[in-house]
Amino acid sequence: MTDSLEPLTKVKVTAVPVPDYLIRYYHWAYVAPSAIRFWDHHFLVQLILFGQYKRLKDRTRMLLRQGPTGHLLQIACVYGSLSHDLLDDLQDNESLTVLDVVAEQLLQVQRKNSHPHKHHRLRLLQADSQNIPCPSAHYSKTLLFFLLHEQPEPVRRQTVAEALRVLQSDGLLIIVDYHRPARLHPLRPLVALVFRFLEPFAHDLWAHHLDSWLYQEFPEIQIQKTTHFAGLYQILQIRKSS
Ligand SMILES: C[S@@+](CC[C@H](N)C(=O)[O-])C[C@H]1O[C@@H](n2cnc3c(N)ncnc32)[C@H](O)[C@@H]1O
Repeated sequence: MTDSLEPLTKVKVTAVPVPDYLIRYYHWAYVAPSAIRFWDHHFLVQLILFGQYKRLKDRTRMLLRQGPTGHLLQIACVYGSLSHDLLDDLQDNESLTVLDVVAEQLLQVQRKNSHPHKHHRLRLLQADSQNIPCPSAHYSKTLLFFLLHEQPEPVRRQTVAEALRVLQSDGLLIIVDYHRPARLHPLRPLVALVFRFLEPFAHDLWAHHLDSWLYQEFPEIQIQKTTHFAGLYQILQIRKSS
């Protein structure tokens, strides 16, 4: 582990600047401490994801368990029990690093995972996903769980580039995010409304298939894609071609 990967008990609130788009569009959801306390409940995340949070989380856990053994980097905090469950799934010689640019988000992960058995397996890293302070090829697995739809296109590109850079050559990147559902999907009008008023960058994932965009941007990768809940969500398993 490098020095930048602080053990759980030494979370440092540093001066990493919070990106403009987060402050401007997502202060109410992820930045204000009161918002973090309000939103961080399993039933609320289940509600926001139309009851699919547990299913998507369990599928993600299964894919990660089947992936190569080693260290896992979760890029961005997620409300609910995802990090807790990922910690539970670790084997003896594995660790979980949770990265986020908002220090209060990491402190919330710390509060939720204070059990002594888990302490030494968890690292909290305050950093921007566009610039991960860690050597290349450091992790066996990286995870982007509902982060990309929140990011403007140039940030999204840089985030994926970093997620791939820190991954070992036989490593696995899992992306879980929105997907364009069929025209007659009953929830499509409601989700489109939410995107329009609350998620200004999410429509990109409907306008362009994420896997096609990724192949264009990163020709060296191989993607296995599955869609869920009648196409509203997608899970991509990504490996670098050798
Ligand atoms: C993973 S996303 C949304 C996850 C999901 N909607 C949930 O239920 O929590 C939210 C997190 O991404 C973090 N985030 C957004 N942009 C980031 C960036 N550029 N670098 C690091 N973390 C970022 C936010 O601070 C927030 O904690």
